[in-house]
Amino acid sequence: MKTSCLALACSPRKNGNTAILARHALDACATAGCKTEYLYLAGFNYKPCQACGGCNTTGRCVIKDDAAVIYEKILTVDRLIIAAPIFSMGICAQAKMLIDRAQQFWATKYLLKQKVITDANRQPRRGIFISCAGTTLPGVFDGAQRVANYFFKMLEIELMASLCFDGVDKKGDILKHGTALAKAAEYGRKLYEQP
Ligand SMILES: Cc1cc2nc3c(=O)[nH]c(=O)nc-3n(C[C@H](O)[C@H](O)[C@H](O)COP(=O)(O)O)c2cc1C
Repeated sequence: MKTSCLALACSPRKNGNTAILARHALDACATAGCKTEYLYLAGFNYKPCQACGGCNTTGRCVIKDDAAVIYEKILTVDRLIIAAPIFSMGICAQAKMLIDRAQQFWATKYLLKQKVITDANRQPRRGIFISCAGTTLPGVFDGAQRVANYFFKMLEIELMASLCFDGVDKKGDILKHGTALAKAAEYGRKLYEQP
């Protein structure tokens, strides 16, 4: 079956800096031969985790909303691109809200001691994290990167790279960056080419 890649554009700013990078990576991945899908997260309707503990015994979230639709896709694909900007020194709320809903997979792994990906014959899953920050403050990506690492690990996806660009603030500023677009495309290709 053809390798598939999903890009989640998590910023509410449609076609903003992180979305542009996600598109570049995804387009390169498609050109290399991958089946691709792009999702604008703010177009979906999902709640934050309610901390009800419902997933502790089943490994399934009890809330029935679009997070289930998105996670169905995330579990199915071979490659994942998460593109999310820095808001208030951390990952943007749209991304964090979705990531908290992955508590069901944490419960699957660490409470129920089961695999999230049950098919032992599946090829290794890989992904990249993309972010932009308006400032150049030291450590501005630290919090978001920790969250992204945790998320990819929970989903049994190898995080191949975190592509983080600082000093990129206004919509479209990333287009003026010297190397960012080429880097995104390079990793989009690598996502497909790495077996
Ligand atoms: C609500 C909000 C909070 C932000 N907080 C930070 C911040 O703490 N540090 C920073 O460097 N940039 C911050 N920014 C700037 C964004 O990270 C920057 O504009 C980025 O390029 C946005 O990417 P996007 O176009 O993909 O949304 C903030 C922007 C918004 C809208």
